[in-house]
Amino acid sequence: MLCLGLSGGLDRVFESSLELPNTFLHDGAAVLVRDGRVIAAVEEERLNRVKHSNKFPSNSIRYCLSIAGVELGEIDRIAFYATEAYCNTVIERLSASRPVPLDAKLLLRQLLAREFGAEIDSSRLSFVNHHEAHAVSAFAMSGFDESLVLAIDGGGDFLSGILAVGSGTELTQLASFPEKNSLGLLYLETIRYLGYGLFDEYKVMGLAPYGDPAPYRELFAQFYELLDNGSYRVHLDRIGPALVRNIEVRRKGMPFTQQHRDVSASLQEALERMVFHILRHFREATGMTRLCLAGGVAHNCTLNGKLLYSALFDDIFVQPAAHDAGCALGLH
Ligand SMILES: [Fe+2]
Repeated sequence: MLCLGLSGGLDRVFESSLELPNTFLHDGAAVLVRDGRVIAAVEEERLNRVKHSNKFPSNSIRYCLSIAGVELGEIDRIAFYATEAYCNTVIERLSASRPVPLDAKLLLRQLLAREFGAEIDSSRLSFVNHHEAHAVSAFAMSGFDESLVLAIDGGGDFLSGILAVGSGTELTQLASFPEKNSLGLLYLETIRYLGYGLFDEYKVMGLAPYGDPAPYRELFAQFYELLDNGSYRVHLDRIGPALVRNIEVRRKGMPFTQQHRDVSASLQEALERMVFHILRHFREATGMTRLCLAGGVAHNCTLNGKLLYSALFDDIFVQPAAHDAGCALGLH
């Protein structure tokens, strides 16, 4: 059984980019798995030289096929890292500004036919829930028999994360987090006022230890609420107005002030408080002593370190490709 997992966009590198929501359809990659064993895996950005490539991962597919010595027509299953419903919604949104008379399946089949000259039957294509792909990419590689699995990111498939229990080859979802409560977007929305943007989150995580969270702790407390049963709410709409009122907004290239460092520290503290809140509840409710993490927010290694040293869990596995490229690993 040969399975090819794909993440990335649905337009080719020389085509003008479709206007897509900036939290989705990036980090293109392909992963080829034969009977449960990874044969080849590569990120498109390594081959097309576009960081976080949002293009169709043609080069990655070609690379995976060449490593295995097979043609695209010999692949049993080709899987994409989002549900068909979500992809179709994104395509519909695009067709409001210009006609895109396609659905996701047809678009994927046409792309594969144009790039590889192979007619792929629809029955061999599958579209997988984005956060399930993240979750599987961590749990399947963790070596754990069972564990809690938290997939958290900016957004995808109308959600910003799921909490599940992995056991053997099964994943049971216990909670999902809507996009409006996105922890990835909380981070992104804040760093815009520090002169940063999408994919710069790690720089602000690195700035945070130079700051003191205390001066803006109360301000950040207005941006989220911790609710019962490990749930929470994020008020993304309050972030911009509050920051504009309370700090000197930094534009890219401007020097950092202590204020910017302190805001970074408060942001990091808020993220950590929310993730600990979720995990403490589900650690207790399920009795699981291990944890797997995936999704872009799981690249926050300050958070991961605190989780590890908190002893809340006996062991933690973080998917090294926690960003969307890693989804291509979790589609098999
Ligand atoms: Fe994601």
